[in-house]
Amino acid sequence: MRVIVTGGAGFIGSALVRHLVLDRGYDVLTIDALTYAGNLASLKPVEGRGNHHFLRADIRDGAMMAQAMATFRPDRIMHLAAESHVDRSITGADDFVQTNVLGTFALLEAARAYWDGLDVRARAGFRFLHVSTDEVYGSLGLSRTHLFREDTPYDPSSPYSATKAASDHLAKAWQRTYGLPVVVSNCSNNYGPCHFPEKLIPLTILNALEGRELPVYGRGDNIRDWLYVEDHVRALDLIAAKGRVGETYNVGGRNERRNIDVVRAICHVLDRLCPGPTARESLIRFVPDRPGHDARYAIDASKLENELGWQAYETFETGIEKTVQWYLENPGWWQPLRQNYDGQRLGLLDQCA
Ligand code: NAD
Ligand code: TYD
Repeated sequence: MRVIVTGGAGFIGSALVRHLVLDRGYDVLTIDALTYAGNLASLKPVEGRGNHHFLRADIRDGAMMAQAMATFRPDRIMHLAAESHVDRSITGADDFVQTNVLGTFALLEAARAYWDGLDVRARAGFRFLHVSTDEVYGSLGLSRTHLFREDTPYDPSSPYSATKAASDHLAKAWQRTYGLPVVVSNCSNNYGPCHFPEKLIPLTILNALEGRELPVYGRGDNIRDWLYVEDHVRALDLIAAKGRVGETYNVGGRNERRNIDVVRAICHVLDRLCPGPTARESLIRFVPDRPGHDARYAIDASKLENELGWQAYETFETGIEKTVQWYLENPGWWQPLRQNYDGQRLGLLDQCA
């Protein structure tokens, strides 16, 4: 099996590449532009493996994408490259439109030309998995009565989710119009190793470890449905292999938590694994809310579970323990990022306030 993974130096992409190369033994070409979110340190475990190749390239470069496909001759393309942080999309949406919309368009066009040139058997087996987010569905009420299903109407709130929604529509249209064998996945919030420390969970772990304030937007009662990243990448492998062409599969672990409870849980795990001078909860600070902040996300994953037999292995409790442990054991991964990132974070908060 020969697989191109775009965005393979990012958080989820690198977990996927590690899984495909090390556990599945596939031949993988990682394509990544190495933006601020891309990190070759996340690919260290596959370094030197004969079945892993890396190309630094921008997915908007259609000619380069076409050349990579012609040379590598993939059976599958798993498309994860994106701008992914909601706060950044609020303070500057341009990169989001560029990569998430125009980049996906360029990649789809290159994939269509490549697929058109395959023989009948290879054409039938080829898959383009477009990896997306549950944020395209907008916000659920806090009452915990409804879940996002595959037929929930799109209603994105942020520039990030709007550009992801646009890219989902492009991917679906390339299937319906041109027959490109596209499958789409929409997943809830991920967490785990190699997560860039601007997102809630890694930011909280590292700030708490360093005795710094833990910013919680609004009153901390927004709800997210958390999935351990390794459960997500197993789902992606399964959807690419067995998902029906033209279909969407929602991915989620049935782990809804209020943000404040997530932050408290991290404090408790850290206090136990690495006791500090005071209880970490004392570092929590409620800060001005994110504009357009979605109240709740929650996934109904029963299509994926029933049709493809997927299940999440990790509960939130086991996953968060593993995650905190990973950050404690891998300062070499995050320390350089923390040094570079600090100033940018302050800028973001000012503009969101
Ligand atoms: P990430 O920000 O950690 O990584 C994105 C990667 O894409 C980086 O390595 C970056 O260098 C690369 N990239 C960005 N622009 C590029 C371009 N123009 N050309 C080539 N590479 C480029 O993101 P992530 O959290 O790993 O998310 C991966 C995918 O999964 C995204 O499509 C995202 O929308 C989706 N997703 C994320 C979550 C989550 O909780 N993180 C949940 C559901 C879906
Ligand atoms: P985030 O990790 O940015 O993911 P997303 O916006 O894609 O859900 O944020 C998760 C939740 O945590 C979201 O409701 C915003 C909130 N949040 C904070 O309360 N404080 C923070 O410093 C950050 C980054 C997020």
